[in-house]
Amino acid sequence: MAKVTVSAIKADIGSLAGHHKVINEQIEYAKNILEKAKNEEKIFDYYVFNAGDDLELLITHDKGTDNPAIHELAWNVFKEVTNNVSKKYKLYAAGQDLLSDAFSGNVKGLGPGVAEMEFEERPSEPIIVFAADKTEPGAWNLPLYRVFADPFCTPGLVIDPSMHEGFIFEVMDLMEGKSILLKTPEESYDLLALIGTPSRFVIARVYRKDGLIAAVASTTRLSLIAGRYVGKDDPVCIVRAQRGLPAVGEYLEAFAYPYLVSGWMRGSHVGPLMPVPLKYSQVTRFDGPPRVVALGFQIYNGKLLGPADLFDDPAFEYVRNKAAEIAEYVRRHGPFMPHRLGPEEMEYTTLPEVIKKLEKRFTEAK
Ligand code: F6R
Ligand code: MG
Ligand code: MG
Repeated sequence: MAKVTVSAIKADIGSLAGHHKVINEQIEYAKNILEKAKNEEKIFDYYVFNAGDDLELLITHDKGTDNPAIHELAWNVFKEVTNNVSKKYKLYAAGQDLLSDAFSGNVKGLGPGVAEMEFEERPSEPIIVFAADKTEPGAWNLPLYRVFADPFCTPGLVIDPSMHEGFIFEVMDLMEGKSILLKTPEESYDLLALIGTPSRFVIARVYRKDGLIAAVASTTRLSLIAGRYVGKDDPVCIVRAQRGLPAVGEYLEAFAYPYLVSGWMRGSHVGPLMPVPLKYSQVTRFDGPPRVVALGFQIYNGKLLGPADLFDDPAFEYVRNKAAEIAEYVRRHGPFMPHRLGPEEMEYTTLPEVIKKLEKRFTEAK
């Protein structure tokens, strides 16, 4: 079997009732286009779903990462769904994440978020696709660290001989456009020093020490591309599981605690990340709380069996309730930090105008 590439490409191209959720007709329209590509043998397989107001395309093929034909296919799906569905119903923010009219070979830099990995299919190849709404790429930092570097989450790090050597994290500096490889456990503290600032340093990939790719995450920051607020960079992440890699349950374990992420309401607030099944992949309270879905698949000869809707389980009910409780707690802070993000991270801000307006009324402090 030749290598298989798994590409997750997503964009917010308009949604129902504000930024609440993608509609079925958008999903069906995208499926029709990808079904045609599958019948023409341009791709192996696909799955279309939504994370809140983001349309998510999962595509398998043999063309490698950053392939212009695959990126163009995804771009055309987003364009056609925007023009033929989002605009027809005047869905909210139709075409929001499509920052350019002209496609230029790669969707990166044009708005959509992308996570792709190429690998040789193992005798059995379970993967999970995580997709979140109302947060940012750095939201994966905490769970990816816990899965690949914290034995309190992943006992395999201690007791599975093929994971015992640890992992290599590729971290991107979104401000400088640079990346660095850091090894765990030996460089854990350096790694944490960086990824503890998730708005700037984001985990882009994780490799096993023998070079096998284990995880890849989207790293787009739309505001850095467009120079202004254009929407949230709700992220997606693909991971491979089992047999010398973290077990599916070790991945899910990292989401059993509703940790705080940035990106709630107007991209300017902190809130708990709630793990939900697809039926709750929508946002309500205060345009949130931020949510994540986890879809499990088996890849067989490049094709996708699944999904398993992995957070659709009573075991995560407690986590959702906890997230709702944390949401209530942080919401009481209203316009105050740290619920509201710091001025440099807010996606919407009137702050410079307010300061300008009041400038003349400021006098020397006594
Ligand atoms: C969008 C989001 C929402 C919007 C908010 C205001 O992904 O996070 O919270 O920022 O609904 O949206 P506009 O400015 O479009 O009215
Ligand atoms: Mg939206
Ligand atoms: Mg979104």
